[in-house]
Formats: sequence, C-alpha cells, structure tokens
Amino acid sequence: MKKIIGAGVLLAAAAIFWIYGRGSTQTQKTSIKVGISIYRQDDTFISSMMGSLESYAKTLEQEKNIKISIDISDGNENQNTQNEQVERYISLGYDVLCINMVDRAEAATVIDKAEAADIPVIFFNREPVEEDMYRWEKLYYIGSDAKEQAVLQGQMILDALASRPEEIDINQDGILQYAMLEGEIRHQDSMVRTEWSVQSLKDGGASLEKVTGGIADWERAQASAMVEQWLTDYGDQIEIIICNNDDMALGAVDAMARAGLDFHNIVGIDGTPAGIQAVDEGKMLGTVVSNLDLHAQAIMDFAYAMAMGQEIDIEKWPLIDGKYIRIPQEIYVG
Ligand code: BGC
Repeated sequence: MKKIIGAGVLLAAAAIFWIYGRGSTQTQKTSIKVGISIYRQDDTFISSMMGSLESYAKTLEQEKNIKISIDISDGNENQNTQNEQVERYISLGYDVLCINMVDRAEAATVIDKAEAADIPVIFFNREPVEEDMYRWEKLYYIGSDAKEQAVLQGQMILDALASRPEEIDINQDGILQYAMLEGEIRHQDSMVRTEWSVQSLKDGGASLEKVTGGIADWERAQASAMVEQWLTDYGDQIEIIICNNDDMALGAVDAMARAGLDFHNIVGIDGTPAGIQAVDEGKMLGTVVSNLDLHAQAIMDFAYAMAMGQEIDIEKWPLIDGKYIRIPQEIYVG
C-alpha cells in the first residue's frame, strides 16, 4: 500500500514538474522573431503601418523585457515571391508570421506551410476568405470594417451637403453628380467601399447620378492620370469624387492642381499622414481615419502573445467570431 501511495506521490510530482516545467520554458523565451511579408512596399497605407509597427515593437520590447526581431519582406505583388518568403521564415525558425497577402485567395498555401511547422499566422489588411480562416486554430485577421468606413464616408458627404449645399451640389440641380475611384478589383475593401458609400448616400436621402468611375488600384499616379482624362471627357459635370482610399484621392488632388482648378470635393479613406495633411490644407473635403497605430499595435500584440504561447488579451482586443479584429474608424474633416 505504502509503495502504491509512494508511486502516486512521485507521479503527481512528476506531473506538476512537467506542467510547470513546460510553462516556464515558454515564459523564459528571451527573444522572438517575427516574420512579416507585405504585398507591396510602396503602398502608402501599408508602409505607414509598418513604420508604426516598428516603433511599437520597440515599446513592447522594453515593456516585456524581451528582444523582438522584426523582418519585413516585400512581396512585390508576386504571390510566388511571397510564398518563398514564408518558406524562408519557416526554415529559419521564426516564431510567428504576419502576412499581408499578395493574392488573398491564396491564403491556404501559406496556412498549410505554417501549420505543418506549427507557426501561428496573423493576416492583416488583405483578408483571406472565411473558409481559409477556419482552416486552423492559430490564425487571426486584423483589418478594417470596409462597410463601416464606407458608411462614414457617405455620412461625411451627407453632412457637407446639408450644411453647405451650394459647395457640394455645385450646379444646384438637387442631384449629386459623382465619380468613383476604386481600388484593386479583387480586394475586399474596394468592393465593399464602392457599394456602401453610394448606398449610404441613398439611404441618407441623396439623389445621385454617376458621371464616371474607374479602377486605379489604390495608386496615386494611376488615379491622377484617370482624373485628368475625366476632366477632358466630362468637364465640370463632376461635383464630387469618391475615392476608395486616400492615395487615389491625392491623385485626384494632383490632377486638379495640374489643371489649375479650384476643386476640393474629394473624399478618401485611410487617414494616411498625406491624406490628413491634404484635408488640413483644404485640398480634400475629408477622409475616414483607419487608425494606423491601432492596426500596428494589434498586429504586434497578437504576434507577441502567439510567439510566447500566451493567451490573446481579449479585453484589449475583442475578437469577432474568435478570429477577427476590426480597427475602429472615424470621420476626419477640415
Ligand atoms: C487601404 C489602401 C491600401 C490597401 C492595400 C486598403 O485597406 O485603404 O490604401 O492600398 O488596403 O491592401
């Protein structure tokens, strides 16, 4: 009997040692490696977010007293390149991956590689399809609620229309003649923003007429060339230019400046430093701010917790459907 009790005590002690021993090796990590891959280095919104992320990582390093190494690779708009970057991070034993997909429909390839190596993944800004998000438990998505952004963009125009109708409905015909600049066709944000900015204007009682529209892939230069052409084709018919992001809005601003026109009815989304500055200078009517610092903090907080094998702080970051973080938005007008 004594022997059996003795063996039981020994077993219990071994179990306690095993549990705590494992726990302590996890918390004893003194450094973590975070592998980031972005779809395109020269995207203003993403590069500003990375700047913010690097500075928040330094704060976190001090707060947690741990070394955090961050590697940011440029996917260069090529999914094969990005897949190779993921493989490299995995082979070098990175602790966590943060991926801004080149082609968001290809997330399964990244997920399968990461799962095989048991390295958690945080996707951001370019959202994998829902089915892929539920492929494995160690996956999260951090991004904006595109519908919320678009509804706020519509609201901003409705507010301006109500308070300064003569500035917005330029020809005073009671109808808002608009042009739409859209982001990449396969990006979840462009599709939803295009639909809901217009829908929220309609829901708010505005009469609308689309003069023209086009896809400028989020890019300032493309948008600028497109608007220049619109000015030739449609002259003064356009009363407002609704843009899926700030960089394209700035392209429209550039085209107006080149044409020597005093036209500022241009709205964006993002709240990039350049976008905010253009609003402050009266070159744009307004933007919807998708707080870059919060994006960066969410990505790094998740990366840290997952690399350390810790729980996510769901009080700070309330998860939607156990998978999604949606960064809050706000209207910014001059
Ligand atoms: C932003 C764009 C950016 C794109 C990149 C969007 O959410 O609004 O400015 O170019 O994401 O994926």
